[in-house]
Amino acid sequence: MSKKFFIAPSILSADFTNLSREIKTAEAAGADWIHIDIMDGHFVPNMSMGIKAVEACRKATDLPLDTHLMVREPEKFIDIYAEAGVSHLTVHIEATPNIYRLLQRIKELDCKAGITLNPGTHFSLIEPVLPMVYQVLIMTVNPGYGGQEFIPETLTKIRNIRKILDEVNPQVLIAVDGGISEATLPQVIDAGAQVFVAGNAIFNYPEGIKAGIQALKELLPG
Ligand code: DX5
Ligand code: ZN
Repeated sequence: MSKKFFIAPSILSADFTNLSREIKTAEAAGADWIHIDIMDGHFVPNMSMGIKAVEACRKATDLPLDTHLMVREPEKFIDIYAEAGVSHLTVHIEATPNIYRLLQRIKELDCKAGITLNPGTHFSLIEPVLPMVYQVLIMTVNPGYGGQEFIPETLTKIRNIRKILDEVNPQVLIAVDGGISEATLPQVIDAGAQVFVAGNAIFNYPEGIKAGIQALKELLPG
């Protein structure tokens, strides 16, 4: 039976001096995917990691590498990230005028294609491509940094997208990214999300990574 809910620790908040160990700890604690945030300092006002970090993650784990490209001109980068072994490639609707071609190319590369949108972007902009994606990543903070506060207005967007997906492509997963914690998880589940990206709530959990993942898992229904 396929899984209903997925926990995707975002390594943006991990200790980079011990990246491999942090990933292995998350995996042993029941993480489903590893979320990797690629930022270029243009699409978002921050830079994070690149291909070397992805290769290091690939060596550390066999879990799916869920890669979130916060870059301008993502078409320039998808082939090299696929080559580095990522399994999911998610691109921003705001980052390219050629979203259809980009998603086609991601699928040709045998990666799971994801579409994502910023808190200020209307959900109708992604409607035309919903039949061709594996997941919709709804940004629940402004992209660029970990540890920000969840934006509650995004709950309505999750509900709206879930409603459309149920009509056009019900198996598509809704992922949420930003400010996910024990406090906000029940709200996003109730709104219709299935994949929970969490950085701060896992890697900076006071009792450690394992306890952080367990605390989130305990809130999952079923
Ligand atoms: C933000 C990134 C997130 C970030 C989430 O732009 O896309 O993946 O790591 O961090 P938290 O869970 O700390 O809000
Ligand atoms: Zn992310």
